[in-house]
Amino acid sequence: MLELLQPQPADKILALMQAFREDPRAGKIDLGVGVYKNAEGVTPVMRAIKAAEKTLWETETTKAYTGLAGDPAFSDAMIDLVLGTSVERARIAAVATPGGTGAIRQGFELIKWVNPEATVWLSAPTWPNHPSILKFLKMPLAEYRYFDDETRGVDFEGMLEDLAQVKAGDVVLLHGCCHNPTGANLTLAQWAEVIAVLQEVGAVPFVDIAYQGFGDGLEEDAAAVRMVASEMPECLIAASCSKNFGIYRERTGVLMAISEKADGQPLAQGSLAFLNRQNYSFPPDHGARLVTMILTDPALRADWEAELEEVRLGMLALREQLASELQRLSGSDRFGFLAQHRGMFSRLGTTPEMVEKLRADHAIYMVGDSRMNIAGLNAQTVPILAQAIVDAGI
Ligand code: LMR
Repeated sequence: MLELLQPQPADKILALMQAFREDPRAGKIDLGVGVYKNAEGVTPVMRAIKAAEKTLWETETTKAYTGLAGDPAFSDAMIDLVLGTSVERARIAAVATPGGTGAIRQGFELIKWVNPEATVWLSAPTWPNHPSILKFLKMPLAEYRYFDDETRGVDFEGMLEDLAQVKAGDVVLLHGCCHNPTGANLTLAQWAEVIAVLQEVGAVPFVDIAYQGFGDGLEEDAAAVRMVASEMPECLIAASCSKNFGIYRERTGVLMAISEKADGQPLAQGSLAFLNRQNYSFPPDHGARLVTMILTDPALRADWEAELEEVRLGMLALREQLASELQRLSGSDRFGFLAQHRGMFSRLGTTPEMVEKLRADHAIYMVGDSRMNIAGLNAQTVPILAQAIVDAGI
């Protein structure tokens, strides 16, 4: 049997991580995988996570199974964080999942299970694992225009035109904030127009929110998903705690399914729990428990929010430094978009050949589509990157 397996193409982001690790050059710069790094290049354990872990170690008395949906207190805390009071709680089903990817996977499986004909529409471009999972599940997928290569902003007209083609019952995957890989985001007024089109065509929105708190702030970054959830009859939401709690390896995420009416919630809740059972039984608990402790303890929460804000403002400062350094070196404003983008990523907007040249000549690693992880920079490496970009003639 095993001889029938076919080698699979390496995930571009993970292959880049490996190549960076193996590069012996001093001064190499990693702008690849979406992991936050501080100015020393370290991905720190956040203070509140450390404090919660200590308390948990001292007080946890059992490691027995939780429930198929995970601890309901985790779902409640995450619903509060992501949705606030925008949607009646009784309409929301939620389960813990192994990270944001687990939530995406379970959401896709739910779609395939109930409506195998549904096409899932993805932004062009999107996180490469979205189409990869859909193809693996043999689910129909399509793309809507999103990024304007000229302006490096959102191709909003193209987006609306393509969304108008969506069939009733199809699913439209939207990045709740901090679009990955481009960094270009919709304004709230544009979100309202997108929602109107989705309502018109009868699509189901599936919001992927993996970077809440990395863009304009915790509340601000949730504004779009709250608008979608409160204005659409049904909605799926995949939220990740990997980035904003810095607990990447703990695999902590949540999938929410919002039914049109509260009487639909028990069926959705039971179905999500059943799906968990089919795939891995009980979702991981450690990260979810830490997140719950932080979100429900005012002191821990205040410290977490403060540290997250430091992270966000640090990335914003790097964006501004890079845009102004490029302005100075190139004598043009064409890189101004870097300061407008939000979140961890920006798409520089150059060719794979140029990306390869930056890697070969300067040991600067970014994803082949020219996605840069801004958090991979620091005040000293920004001028090096800016010089390399200008020298390469980008
Ligand atoms: C990324 O986009 O780099 C992150 O979401 C990490 C991953 O799993 O790809």
